[in-house]
Amino acid sequence: MRFQLAKHMTRLSEVVKTLGAVAVVGLGIGFVSTSTVQAATSDYHLDASKVMGPDACAECHKSSAEAWKPTHHSRTFKELPRNKDAKEIAEKMGIKRLKSDSQCLNCHFTSQEKEGKTKPIAGITCESCHGEGKDWIKLHSDFGGKDVTAETETAEHKKERWAKSTAAGMIRPANLYDVAANCYSCHTVPDEKLVNVGGHPAGSKFELVSWSQGEVRHNVWYTKSNDEAGAERKRMMYVVGRLLDLEYSLRGVAKATKKADYAVKMAKRAKTARKRVEAISDKIDAPELGEAVAAAKAAKLKLNNEAKLTEAADKVQAMARKVAANYDGSTFGALDEFIPAAEKYKGKVFQ
Ligand code: HEC
Ligand code: HEC
Ligand code: HEC
Ligand code: HEC
Repeated sequence: MRFQLAKHMTRLSEVVKTLGAVAVVGLGIGFVSTSTVQAATSDYHLDASKVMGPDACAECHKSSAEAWKPTHHSRTFKELPRNKDAKEIAEKMGIKRLKSDSQCLNCHFTSQEKEGKTKPIAGITCESCHGEGKDWIKLHSDFGGKDVTAETETAEHKKERWAKSTAAGMIRPANLYDVAANCYSCHTVPDEKLVNVGGHPAGSKFELVSWSQGEVRHNVWYTKSNDEAGAERKRMMYVVGRLLDLEYSLRGVAKATKKADYAVKMAKRAKTARKRVEAISDKIDAPELGEAVAAAKAAKLKLNNEAKLTEAADKVQAMARKVAANYDGSTFGALDEFIPAAEKYKGKVFQ
């Protein structure tokens, strides 16, 4: 599963720091984990034994939770089982109950293990994007003593606090690649049987700026006003998002075994994504983009080409991580004409 992958990747970011970016390709990350997506029907997208649940986060992050509650991510928990299309998909897949032992758990629900039993407790939650909380929930908010606040904490303690939290699996907004990779792992719908047999919608026209700045936006912790991301942040989201689309659609095609809806749409997605990265590469000075395009071009978008396509995806991933780490958007002004305007933001912004 990609969500185990997310954990590998978090730890990997530490590895990368010490071994250099080559390690990403060398270790073949993503390959092993994604290959179990279709095989298992009862995988949970997170390690259920480490899931705290959204109420635990809401104890401190009350307004973030309020922003999350009206979103599709939260509502799917109650609404999916009553959805007519969902019932149809389930029937075609031979699934009796959506909330037990079905693929639906991977992307629509968050499961928690309690007293030896694992069951879905909510929809797509805080931890689906920020990582399972058990090992970092205390760490990330511990300023180093009872009377210490965010303002009085020493710089050294702060640095150590974030390093430890990240090492324990926390995915912070500052880590744009990892937090956004989560979106693509679900929104490209990389499940051949679900699409071909179940008739589930194939991945939608997901774009990171427009899909994150509407109903999903919850910039309500450090400031109260839920402001949209700034111009430079949006440029970074746009570029990293397009690279992720290329990476995940290559991984998606790598899994294709039959000439049917899934393979056709995923290949089309990969081709479009490649052209978009190429167009970005023409506009700005960032050699990583050209390298990503070249890697994608080297792998044919055809059935049963898993090794080559995965190799290409790993290369694109390494470039996406580099872009996220090495730039801040200030030199990407030429992209502003590509970046979706506010009227394209998906869903209603929380106020
Ligand atoms: C005991 C209170 C508390 C709980 C419970 C809590 N947090 Fe936090 N969280 C904080 C504090 C305090 C900060 C700000 C730290 C700072 O200012 O450096 C924070 C910051 C964050 C950030 C921003 C990190 C960054 O990079 O700036 C995220 C994301 C986050 N929390 C997610 C969560 C999630 C998800 C949960 C539930 C699994 C959770 N928190 C539970 C207190 C809490
Ligand atoms: C690989 C991830 C993934 C899996 C597994 C998955 N879904 Fe989805 N599903 C999505 C995403 C992402 C969307 C939102 C589509 C979009 O991007 O607009 C969605 C949307 C839907 C919708 C339309 C939205 C709505 O609420 O009207 C239905 C119905 C649905 N899924 C049913 C199911 C059922 C039933 C299962 C289990 C058999 C399932 N899905 C498994 C990712 C997944
Ligand atoms: C769909 C994925 C997703 C979900 C669900 C989600 N977050 Fe976030 N969160 C993000 C992203 C992405 C950002 C960074 C946005 C940016 O940088 O513009 C973020 C930012 C934050 C921040 C920093 C906000 C600020 O004021 O700067 C906090 C705190 C946080 N999330 C906590 C939570 C909590 C608590 C929940 C659950 C109630 C939650 N998140 C649910 C993806 C998510
Ligand atoms: C664990 C899987 C998962 C992750 C991670 C995830 N999503 Fe989703 N998302 C879904 C599913 C499933 C739906 C459809 C829910 C429904 O309507 O039943 C959805 C719906 C949405 C919608 C509403 C779409 C509509 O039809 O209006 C938006 C916007 C969205 N996601 C944005 C994001 C962004 C941005 C991120 C990353 C920061 C993200 N999602 C991460 C699974 C996921």
